[in-house]
Amino acid sequence: MKRYAICGFSARAIAQYVVPLIGVPGLTEYGDFSQYGKVVAALDIDTERIKIFNQRQKTIIPAYLPEEFEKMIKETKPDALIVAGADYTHAEYTIAGLKHDLDVIVEKPMTITGKQAKQVIDAEKKSKGRVIVAFNYRYTPAHKYIKKLILDGALGKITNIEFVYNLDTFHGASYFKRWNRSRKFSGGLSVHKSCHHFDLINWLIDDIPETVFAFGALNYFGPNSPFNPQKKSKRRLNNEEVQKRCPYYLKWEGETIPLPEPASLKVIKDTFFLPYKIQYPKELNYYDEDIDIEDTYSVVVRYKSGASMTYSFNASTPWEGYILGINGTGGRIETMHINTSSDRCPFPKPERQTVTYIPLFGTRQVHDIPVVPGGHGGSDHVIKHDIFVSPTEESKKLGLCAGSIEGAYAVAMGEAVWMSAKKGVPFKIKDILK
Ligand SMILES: NC(=O)c1ccc[n+]([C@@H]2O[C@H](COP(=O)([O-])OP(=O)(O)OC[C@H]3O[C@@H](n4cnc5c(N)ncnc54)[C@H](O)[C@@H]3O)[C@@H](O)[C@H]2O)c1
Repeated sequence: MKRYAICGFSARAIAQYVVPLIGVPGLTEYGDFSQYGKVVAALDIDTERIKIFNQRQKTIIPAYLPEEFEKMIKETKPDALIVAGADYTHAEYTIAGLKHDLDVIVEKPMTITGKQAKQVIDAEKKSKGRVIVAFNYRYTPAHKYIKKLILDGALGKITNIEFVYNLDTFHGASYFKRWNRSRKFSGGLSVHKSCHHFDLINWLIDDIPETVFAFGALNYFGPNSPFNPQKKSKRRLNNEEVQKRCPYYLKWEGETIPLPEPASLKVIKDTFFLPYKIQYPKELNYYDEDIDIEDTYSVVVRYKSGASMTYSFNASTPWEGYILGINGTGGRIETMHINTSSDRCPFPKPERQTVTYIPLFGTRQVHDIPVVPGGHGGSDHVIKHDIFVSPTEESKKLGLCAGSIEGAYAVAMGEAVWMSAKKGVPFKIKDILK
């Protein structure tokens, strides 16, 4: 049974790794991998979170502070680290784990800069440990289906990709009142969020990104937001006053409908709702001065094969999801996915996702993608099997498990995006990964 130490006791760490490894009654949909692994330690700047979790779940996971990393390794002897705290911590713990010859499962983004990504690659070369980057997005049924079509040669030589990914006003806004809104913690949304999208395309088309050019801006959030109530006020507003005048709060947090609490909701609250006293000593709002990232990007990427991609991202649109087209000399694949939950969607949400393949001179073929339960389009559950047990035959065939090189390309593309937007010139991926 593999022994895991968690570095960063985040909401993601709990849902994706801790709960499946300990098996919480009432949360069976998160899976039970307790026969394959054990959480032997957890490390966080906020050890209260681990202690409260232990009290509620009746577990005894030893809690360590970041400065106790070496002590944790010595005392609990893990075989592998799960690095799942705020993004800026990933490089440090991944490299420290590799120095101890441990395997490291690191949440996306692998790091927040290309320089750190290169350091991880170098550390892995000297280590007996291996890095897995948890790019769950590859694992959705639609993405696996597209990959199979491409592997079967449906597209011929891939020529270009059109990819639009938007976040809705609920989800997108949430990043601007959390740590993600600071470049020093997240690398910006082009790293934190878009790394998922860049990795997806790099993997689907099996190509290496070479050059990135982008425009980007902060249009919806931050002090200059057109929605910032402070701009219209002659006196300084406190957080509560800002909230009462803010369209994002009014839409999503203004109305609280009292719902009867099913038992599972209580289990969910007990398990996942832990205070963040260190991370957020005070409440943040969408218009704070220290927001220093972009919420909008338009990007062009050129790949080694000569294929190119146009990618656009907006973190404040009425619905969330993507529109994707991949063209090749053999035809075109297109799909659209609406990710906004039905209760937040401003129109009737389609039940299913379809993937359409149209041969260049042929007839349209529409494939209905089955709806799979579970987080992130069902991908969260499938990737756990590859991580905790071993990659399935399908995973091996499709190359689903991502390593440090793929993690590095996705980070470098994200960094190239914000750097290009800032400087107004294209950036080479090889220069970012120096
Ligand atoms: N693959 C996915 O679909 C997916 C989904 C959600 C989150 N994530 C990733 O999971 C990670 C956690 O995200 P989250 O939103 O759950 O985070 P979170 O805000 O819930 O938790 C962050 C944790 O990091 C801790 N932390 C901060 N600085 C630290 C340090 N120096 N050392 C140790 N711990 C530190 C905080 O105290 C907190 O417990 C992020 O990297 C995010 O990108 C991935």
